[in-house]
Amino acid sequence: MAFPFQTQVSLAPFNAFGLPGCAARYAEIRSVSQLVKLVRSGELNGQRCVILGGGSNVLLSGDIDGVVLHMRIPGRELIGSDDDFHLVRAGAGENWHELVRWTLEMGWPGLENLSLIPGTVGAAPVQNIGAYGMEVCERFMGLEAVDLRSGAVISFDFKDCHFDYRDSVFKHEAAGRFAITSVTFRLPKRWTALTRYVDLARELATRGIIDPKPLDVSDAIVAIRSRKLPDPAQIGNVGSFFKNPLVNADHYAALLAAHPEIPSYKQIDGQVKLAAGWLIDQAGWRGRSLGPVGMYEHQALVMVNLGGASGQDVLRLSAAVRRDVNERFGVSLEMEPALI
Ligand code: EPU
Repeated sequence: MAFPFQTQVSLAPFNAFGLPGCAARYAEIRSVSQLVKLVRSGELNGQRCVILGGGSNVLLSGDIDGVVLHMRIPGRELIGSDDDFHLVRAGAGENWHELVRWTLEMGWPGLENLSLIPGTVGAAPVQNIGAYGMEVCERFMGLEAVDLRSGAVISFDFKDCHFDYRDSVFKHEAAGRFAITSVTFRLPKRWTALTRYVDLARELATRGIIDPKPLDVSDAIVAIRSRKLPDPAQIGNVGSFFKNPLVNADHYAALLAAHPEIPSYKQIDGQVKLAAGWLIDQAGWRGRSLGPVGMYEHQALVMVNLGGASGQDVLRLSAAVRRDVNERFGVSLEMEPALI
């Protein structure tokens, strides 16, 4: 029997920017065995195959003339522990923030700095989500994925994933080839609060918290994010629209001479990371719009859907912002979400 795909399914409710577009064929994936069966049936052969998680880091350019696999595999459990770590595995379809809060409630801290990041567990390693001084790769143990060519279930360890800043093998060689089905995290038993990020330290101080517990860190981050970042349920957005760019030491020295207040983060290789939000703000784009899209008034790095935007509107504003930042600072911005 042919696989029961749904046809001509609107993807507008499934992408956080709220962009229009239909999938020619669509399937909700709820288990590994269901996906393996689908691949082995040969029904994906020769088709474009797009893997969708929470839709919070994708920009839909229009209709998808292929198959959309919407990863909804549930489950979260403690699969083991040793002297140093709790090992927690979660299904790709679990909501990221709910997983974070659950681990904290269970007494297994370690993910609190990544609180309130939108999206699903399966998407977290793809772009190596990060915030407030931590990246998910620091808590990553391994993941399982289904090879969409053969139907084999493949394990990836830390090395296999080639993690980098908002980057992994799943954005390159492995893109479109593997559907992540579960992720395992190693959460340290000897926990210490990671509060070096200035905004976080300030928020905890404002709350009069000197010796923060994991939940205090999570609550503080929820408060900061809620102030600065728009809720995708209210205003369409995909978080940071660009990556924070790297410049070499000479370029940085010239920028610093012209703008002594420029926020910067020195890297071990001598390069300097700049705050894209600051560059966009300085280029005059914070709170400014072009058609139905704009750069958010409280965080210029976030593009927002002011209502009825299309993929073309997004690309037009993206090009205008990149041009102005480049003209003013000689810095080329790279888009962070994936264009599908
Ligand atoms: N800034 C401005 N104007 C703005 C925005 C920022 O001057 O409109 C300045 C801030 O004052 C600050 C600096 O730029 O000095 C950096 O801003 P912020 O602390 O808000 O962090 P970010 O570098 O813009 C990154 C991540 C966010 C993450 C925050 C907190 C990237 C691309 N973005 O933003 O991640 O939440 O740090 O750790 O690395 C995401 O990836 O979707 C995301 C939201």
